[in-house]
Amino acid sequence: MKLRSIALLIVLLPASSAHALDAVQQRSQDLLENMCARCHAVGRTGASPNKLAPPFRHLGENKLYDPDFVQRLQSGYSSIHRAMPTFRFDRDSAEAVTSYLRAIQTKKD
Ligand code: HEC
Repeated sequence: MKLRSIALLIVLLPASSAHALDAVQQRSQDLLENMCARCHAVGRTGASPNKLAPPFRHLGENKLYDPDFVQRLQSGYSSIHRAMPTFRFDRDSAEAVTSYLRAIQTKKD
C-alpha cells in the first residue's frame, strides 16, 4: 500500500466508525444473535424470521429509555410477552444489551 493511501485511511477511519459498536455492545449483539435471532432480526438490517417479532432496530427509543427496560430484562421478559420464551439477564448483561439496542435504533428502512 502506498504511503498516501495509508494516510487517507487514517483520515477516513474515525468518520466511518462514528456509528460503530463498542466492545460491550458487540458482545451483546453476539449474545442476542444466539438467544433471540430465531425470531427477531437482531442487527441493523434484515427481516425477523418470526413475522410477529419486531426487528430489534425498531423497538423504539421510548421503550429502550424507559427505566424499567433494564429491570425487565433481568426479571424475565416473558412475564410480559406470552409469545416469547422466558429469559433472564444478569444486571451487567441487561445493561449491555440495552446499550446495544439503543445504538441500533433507526426510523428509516
Ligand atoms: C420464539 C420467538 C421469540 C424469541 C426466541 C424471542 N422473542 Fe422477543 N418477541 C417475540 C414476539 C412474537 C414478539 C411480539 C409479540 C409480543 O410482544 O409478545 C416479541 C417482542 C419482543 C419485544 C418487544 C415487546 C415489548 O413490549 O417490549 C422485545 C423487547 C423482545 N421481544 C425482546 C427479545 C429478546 C431480548 C429476546 C432474546 C433474549 C427475544 N425477544 C427472543 C418472539 C420471540
